[in-house]
Amino acid sequence: MPDNPVTLPQLLEWKKIQRKITALTAYDFLTARALDNAGIDLVLVGDSLAMVALGHDTTLPVTLDEMLHHTRAVGRALKRALLIGDMPFMSYQASVEQAVTHAGRFLKEAGAKAVKLEGGAQVSAQVQAITTAGIPVMGHLGLTPQSVHQLGGYKVQGKNYLDARRIKADAHKLQKAGAFALVLEAIPADLAEEITAELDIPTIGIGAGAKCDGQILVTQDMLGMNPDFVPKFVKPFADLGHQMEQGLRRYVEEVRSETFPETRHTYSTESNSLKSVAQKKTG
Ligand code: KIV
Repeated sequence: MPDNPVTLPQLLEWKKIQRKITALTAYDFLTARALDNAGIDLVLVGDSLAMVALGHDTTLPVTLDEMLHHTRAVGRALKRALLIGDMPFMSYQASVEQAVTHAGRFLKEAGAKAVKLEGGAQVSAQVQAITTAGIPVMGHLGLTPQSVHQLGGYKVQGKNYLDARRIKADAHKLQKAGAFALVLEAIPADLAEEITAELDIPTIGIGAGAKCDGQILVTQDMLGMNPDFVPKFVKPFADLGHQMEQGLRRYVEEVRSETFPETRHTYSTESNSLKSVAQKKTG
């Protein structure tokens, strides 16, 4: 019997009692089921889907319909973890009205309990309108991959005084606008620590040090599924990339050498019934 589903008030309570919040990404049913069974608190269907699952160079091309499709699949697996859908590029930037309508689709059509969007002051009107509509919003500050071209690449943010001050001010604006939590991505640990101490809502760090209220990673990264790409802030907790390749090579070998399938992997007819049916027909 799984624990009761994770709720938003619980996240605030966990911040107060300093019980760390665990979060990971998922894009498919089986991965989501494993995360839920492992006791992960928050499951984000991140727009990293674009790069990790769909092979795009950036997160920009993934569409709202693609995000909804994968959010539905993940939602079917979760019994306890809180499901958050990531609003893709240009699904919320153009207008407040569009942002509310598109956020609503994650809850109405895909079973999400909350949405996430990137940016600070420039999206605070959207955050306020979405939360006013009864849809919980998670903010995302620091390295915001949807702005990769504006940022000039995937770089650590908030290293100088002015940038750090802007990120901190944005964090306060998002909290005021009604965000229930903030992802802090790729910012110095001391800045993340200060923001975490100043806010009432939980911070979930990715490359933001140990003092955030919780941590999130892309599941495929932390399981070592892409050994050619291990950013500084990722710890590979498994070596699935190499294990997968080994298993696949063994399969190729065994099919070619006819060691697979064996008798135990093979169905047989009842007392050769196919043969006797054929004999009866010809006799
Ligand atoms: O898209 C994503 O996976 C994310 C997390 C890494 C925070 O935004």
